[in-house]
Amino acid sequence: MSRIPLIAGNWKMNKTAGQAGDYCRALKKLEPDRLPAELVVFPPYTALPAVAENLAGTTVRWGGQDLHWELSGPFTGAVSGQFLAELGCSYVIVGHSERRNIFGEADSVCARKIAAARKTGLIPVFCCGESDVERSQGSTFSVLERQLSAVTPADFAGETVIAYEPVWAIGTGNTATADQIVGVHQWLRRWLTVHHGTDVAERTRLLYGGSVTPAVAAELLALPDVDGLLVGGASLQPEAFFKIAEVGSASFLEARRLS
Ligand code: PGA
Repeated sequence: MSRIPLIAGNWKMNKTAGQAGDYCRALKKLEPDRLPAELVVFPPYTALPAVAENLAGTTVRWGGQDLHWELSGPFTGAVSGQFLAELGCSYVIVGHSERRNIFGEADSVCARKIAAARKTGLIPVFCCGESDVERSQGSTFSVLERQLSAVTPADFAGETVIAYEPVWAIGTGNTATADQIVGVHQWLRRWLTVHHGTDVAERTRLLYGGSVTPAVAAELLALPDVDGLLVGGASLQPEAFFKIAEVGSASFLEARRLS
């Protein structure tokens, strides 16, 4: 398990290439390299070259928000993992709830995308999580089980990041409670141990996502089995994103020093 937390910023459909360049220059001025955290930004595809140009030479990494399951072919509008890798991406998000719910991506499609990420050398950030109805019906763990079981077992062998993002917490201001997060993260770690062995379970980083702000970052990263955060709205300002990484990483290290 990494000794430093992973702080990921999902910009979604925000920022032109020009705005992305401004963002990266502002983030660089804050000196993210001195933080004991791994920072990753996920800009729209069109802003990736500007991000790559401006963040080259820093420790901040970047990734794609999605990818196609094939490497090339007649798939109008789609983007291959190969294209992302060529732009220096290290990571790619797979199975975000907006992809699942707005674009109708099934579990089987997410599984194929994870395999494509592997093939192209990208680390998948696999998103999972239940809706409010599913939680109120008590089916949180069966939903997670279904989402995780769809992934080809061999695809857990490499480096994988799993982001627990309860759908009801995304963009709503309703951050999940500490008990809810720890409950799910411990379940995820156990599920990985049972199905893929201790090695994979210990190596897989578990992120929490859903209305993360600078005000709650320290509390979230002090929780056991929370190895990082996936941040949407609050990652759009470089100062807020940096603050989350700054206060969050300090709290992460302090909590583990004491435990
Ligand atoms: P949010 O989004 O931080 O705006 O809730 C999180 C996400 O969708 O990854």
